[in-house]
Parts: sequence; structure tokens; C-alpha cells
Amino acid sequence: MHNRLLLPFILFSTFSFVVLAPPPYHTLVAPILKHTNANTSLYSITLNDHEHYIIDVDAPFTWYPCQIRHPPVGCNEPACAVARSYLSPLCPVANNTYKYNQCYCNDTPVNPVTGSCAPSQLTNNDLIIYWTNGRFPTGGVNFNRLFVSCAPPSLLQSLPKEAIGVGALSWSSLSLSYQFSYPYGIGIARKFALCLPSSSRARGVIFFGDGPYYLLHPTNFDAASVLSYTPLHGDNTSLGYFINLTGISINGKAINVHRDAFDFKVNGSARLSSIVPYTTLRSNIYNALLKEFKKAARGIAQVTNVNPFSLCFNTSTIGSSRHGLSVPQIHLMLGNGEKWTIYGSNSIKQVDNDVGCLAFVDAGKTAKQAVVIGTYQMENNFLLFDLDQSRLGFSSSLLPYGTTCGGFNFTVGGIV
Ligand SMILES: *[C@@H]1O[C@H](CO)[C@@H](O)[C@H](O)[C@H]1NC(C)=O
Ligand SMILES: *[C@@H]1O[C@H](CO)[C@@H](O)[C@H](O)[C@H]1NC(C)=O
Ligand SMILES: *[C@@H]1O[C@H](CO)[C@@H](O)[C@H](O)[C@H]1NC(C)=O
Ligand SMILES: *[C@@H]1O[C@H](CO)[C@@H](O)[C@H](O)[C@H]1NC(C)=O
Ligand SMILES: *[C@@H]1O[C@H](CO)[C@@H](O)[C@H](O)[C@H]1NC(C)=O
Ligand SMILES: *[C@@H]1O[C@H](CO)[C@@H](O)[C@H](O)[C@H]1NC(C)=O
Ligand SMILES: *[C@@H]1O[C@H](CO)[C@@H](O)[C@H](O)[C@H]1NC(C)=O
Repeated sequence: MHNRLLLPFILFSTFSFVVLAPPPYHTLVAPILKHTNANTSLYSITLNDHEHYIIDVDAPFTWYPCQIRHPPVGCNEPACAVARSYLSPLCPVANNTYKYNQCYCNDTPVNPVTGSCAPSQLTNNDLIIYWTNGRFPTGGVNFNRLFVSCAPPSLLQSLPKEAIGVGALSWSSLSLSYQFSYPYGIGIARKFALCLPSSSRARGVIFFGDGPYYLLHPTNFDAASVLSYTPLHGDNTSLGYFINLTGISINGKAINVHRDAFDFKVNGSARLSSIVPYTTLRSNIYNALLKEFKKAARGIAQVTNVNPFSLCFNTSTIGSSRHGLSVPQIHLMLGNGEKWTIYGSNSIKQVDNDVGCLAFVDAGKTAKQAVVIGTYQMENNFLLFDLDQSRLGFSSSLLPYGTTCGGFNFTVGGIV
């Protein structure tokens, strides 16, 4: 298998830290940056100290435009077969290419925003990430020769200009979470925790491996201690993550749709997306949600709708609490009896000084998926994707605990 060397490296010009042996931790950590523009809100993981890779929980492998010289991956390597096995139905097959008796492995990455794709070459590259004791970064580790794909620069079109590529966090064995654990066996469990920030001014956090996962303030708040769990599923047509959503309720009252509307096998229940900005619901579910929310929000002044939303309020008339605006609570009811609570901070998007809209979108009558959970509903929620145990840990909003996803202390310290 591939050598992974722990190399000394310099994190910041003011700080250098030499890792001589794997420290006694089982966790890696990296910052998450929120990129916003008019229509998208994307999040990136920062690797190699300053390179931003858009987080895509559906992507089969990590890709970016490489330098001209990059080592090819042979067509007989198992990773080549894996990379080539994931082909979006919208993309043509990229054939492998031969040059001077060498077979170059080609695959087909997809731009998650535009859906366009391009033939790319599988290669190996080093990626540097921090170790952590769960409280702050304790030094760097260089993952040697990870599999990534070299895409043409044009594939970056419509992605934020600060992003250099796309970081894969799917079920795929070429995703970052798999490559940071298997096959290297350095004690990193196959799990990652996503904590998306609500603003581009705060740095969110992603952890790989077991906790603890401390967020400030208060000190000694371990996000692992407040998680509820629900089974995490895959399906055979994609590499994404699904949970068994069986209903939605508002202030404790179930919205009026047949339970079959969420049927896991046929109607797809709920998928988690790191690209879709606002949770989308198939029309019948959306309309039922809207109707019930309106009823529960009687007494709050409605105002003219703002696209793409269809229920907006005059927020200057609503009180607020630690959870954000005091609006009816939405519960995602899960098959194993747990529920994910959505408070005002994740249900109402402020679109103007005194206008806030219910941040859910109609996916249309024929949407394949009953529900796609979008990033606005995930911000300041701690989500642990436990691939080893096929379960999702979720905190609901962190705000009631007095912390946010911006609460990780990224000041690099020594091993203590
Ligand atoms: C945003 O979307 C609207 C409508 O979908 C489109 O007209 C506009 O050009 C988009 N703006 C950007 C910056 O992509
Ligand atoms: C890939 O190879 C197949 C079979 O050899 C050929 O039909 C197809 O045109 C090739 N595709 C491209 C993009 O070159
Ligand atoms: C996926 O699984 C279902 C049964 O669960 C089966 O009907 C379908 O053919 C499978 N699709 C693929 C692409 O394997
Ligand atoms: C899927 O949802 C539709 C409407 O949302 C419903 O009519 C249908 O019965 C559901 N299918 C299953 C198998 O539950
Ligand atoms: C919201 O309510 C305030 C106070 O009643 C009012 O001054 C303001 O014009 C309203 N805003 C909108 C957008 O209706
Ligand atoms: C989803 O949850 C329901 C209710 O508990 C259960 O009957 C169903 O089997 C679950 N589906 C899956 C795929 O786990
Ligand atoms: C953040 O971590 C550094 C060590 O890297 C530590 O010295 C500092 O006290 C921590 N800050 C807080 C607020 O805990």
C-alpha cells in the first residue's frame, strides 16, 4: 500500500511544529469557510493550510486543476476501477488513454453547481491537515499520495473564486474520510463531523475520527455529548447520505401528508446535501408544511414573498431568543423515534432588515426525493457522519448550548 509519512512542516510562519511519531490522538481537524454570493452558498474545507475545497458529500473523489506534471495512476490499480465506476448519468464515459506504453486512468468529476463534467486524470497528491486533541490543533500531518483527480480548470466555472477544487466526503472509498483512515490504519475512525458556520466571518469546523469535539464558549462543551443518533443509509444509485425521515411536525402537530409520501424505497425519504442551500420538499409535502406553518404562525404579520420562498414575515414584529426568531418549531420525525428540531435560526432566512422567509423550497411535483436537507438547515448544527457504524449523530441547533460552529479554537498549540 502507499507510504504515508509524517513530515515536519511549517503551519504558520510564526509557528513550526515537528511531528516525529503519531501523537496519541485519533482526530484530525480543518476549518470550514462559508462562501456566499447571490444564488449559492457553498462551504469549503481548508487543507494544505490555505487551499479551499468545496465540500461535496455526494462526490466520488476529490478534484482540482493540477499542475502540469502529476504522477499518473495505472489503469490496473484498484483505485482506478473505483474512480471510473462513478459516472453521473449526465456525463460521457472518459476512456483511459495510452501514451508510451503507459495507461493513464481517466475519470469524470462533476461540478456540483452546474452539473457539467469533464474527463480528468487520476493522480496522487499530498494533503496536509491538523491533528487535534479535540480542543485545538496540535500540529500537522502530511497524508502522502492520496488519490485525487486532475480536472481541467474550466470545470471550476461557477464555483467561488477562492475555491481551488472540490473535496469529496461521500461513501466512496476515495473520499477524504476513507482515505484519512483506511488503508493507513493510523487510528482515525471512519467518521467525520460537519459543523457549518452561518457566516463567512466565522470559521466552521470539520473533524475526522473520534471525538471529543470541543467548541467554545462555554469551555468544556463537547459536541459529542449532545448528539442523538439515527441510521445513515446509502442507496445503489448514488454515493450520498440518506436518513429515514417519516414525517414533519410543527409545534408538535404532524403536517397532513400520508406517511407513504416519505417511503424510503420509493419516495427516497431524505437525502443530506452540502450544495442545496435550502431544504427542498416535493410539492405535496411542501404545501402541507406551508399550510401548517401558516396556521401555527397566526398572529405574525405576513409580507410580500421574496423569491425563491413563498411565506415571508415582518420580522420586526417577532421576538427572539437564543434559538433565533421565536417562530413555530419544526421537527423532522425520524424512523427510529428521534427528532431533529429546527428553530427560527434555521427555519427563517432574513432577506431584508425586517423581512424573513420560511427557508424551504418547493422541489416540484415529480422530485425524485421527498426531501433534500439543505445547508441552511445544517448551519450551527453538529452533524456526525459515522460511516463505521452507519449512523448520523445530530445535535439540532447548537445555539441553545451557547455555542456555534464558529466555536473551535484554531490557535495551534503543542501536544499536551
Ligand atoms: C441567480 O439566479 C437568477 C434566477 O435563477 C439568475 O437570473 C441570476 O443570473 C443568478 N445570479 C447569479 C449571480 O448567478
Ligand atoms: C471511448 O471508447 C469507445 C469504445 O472504444 C468509443 O466508442 C468512444 O467514442 C470513446 N469515447 C471518447 C470520448 O473518446
Ligand atoms: C437498486 O436496488 C433496487 C432494489 O432495492 C433494484 O430494484 C434496482 O435495480 C437497483 N439499481 C441498481 C442501479 O443497481
Ligand atoms: C410516494 O409518494 C406519493 C405522493 O407523495 C404517494 O402517492 C405514493 O403512495 C408514495 N409511494 C409509496 C410506495 O409510498
Ligand atoms: C414591519 O412592521 C413595522 C412595524 O409595524 C413597520 O414599520 C414596517 O414597515 C413593516 N415592514 C414591512 C416590510 O412590512
Ligand atoms: C423507516 O422507519 C419506519 C418507521 O420506524 C420503518 O417502518 C422503516 O422500516 C424504516 N425504513 C428503513 C429503510 O429503515
Ligand atoms: C486556544 O488554544 C490555545 C492553544 O493552542 C490556548 O493557549 C488558548 O488558551 C485557547 N483559547 C481558549 C479561549 O481556550
